[in-house]
Amino acid sequence: MGFVVAIDGPAASGKGTIAARLGAALGLPVLDSGLLYRAVGVEVLRRAGDLDDPTVATDAATALVRDLGRDVDRLGDPALRTRTAGEAASRVAAHPAVRAALVESQRSFAAREPGAVLDGRDIGTVIVPHAAAKLYITASAPTRAKRRWRQLLEAPESDVQPSPDYESVLADILARDTRDEMRAASPMRPAPDAILLDTTDLDIDAAFDAARRIVEAARG
Ligand code: DC
Repeated sequence: MGFVVAIDGPAASGKGTIAARLGAALGLPVLDSGLLYRAVGVEVLRRAGDLDDPTVATDAATALVRDLGRDVDRLGDPALRTRTAGEAASRVAAHPAVRAALVESQRSFAAREPGAVLDGRDIGTVIVPHAAAKLYITASAPTRAKRRWRQLLEAPESDVQPSPDYESVLADILARDTRDEMRAASPMRPAPDAILLDTTDLDIDAAFDAARRIVEAARG
């Protein structure tokens, strides 16, 4: 296995930006595993299925894995980045069979030479427990909600009201944290050997610098 960096943490902690910048700095491909769950959730909604029904979600996950072999660009669809997609992702991600269907493609991505950066909720605990570097990126819920709220003000989504209020964004973040932490299948939690990085008081450049130092120390 090449040099694998596993990054986990809750929504809007900064982990996605940090993963992308680490990948660029290290010359490694990056997999945002949340997009897999988002693609499954969006597909269930497209089929007018019930997000809490494991059958339709597992079917969508199996189809996604099959399609990704031919068309990785599917994960670039802007529809996967909306609040609706995030909420749907968190719900389908609770089904053990959905998670099982998505494990293998994440592990094969991680196994590519010369390595990879993966971010999500269970990367360091379940997907690549032997990753050379593991980070768990957090920030306080109000800080994460403010970041997400500002993003939404700057780039409103077509599927929600143009200016969502801060309180509703905070409520979304808290509901998502609870669902991701409390589910029985691969809950969101730091691996015992993950290094915690709290970005509450850091801007994105300072957070990235701190993450890069941790990864460079792991690379030796
Ligand atoms: O990182 P994100 O916001 O795109 O993730 C959306 C949801 O997908 C998240 O609330 C839980 C789920 N998810 C997961 O269960 N495991 C992962 N490795 C990545 C995401």
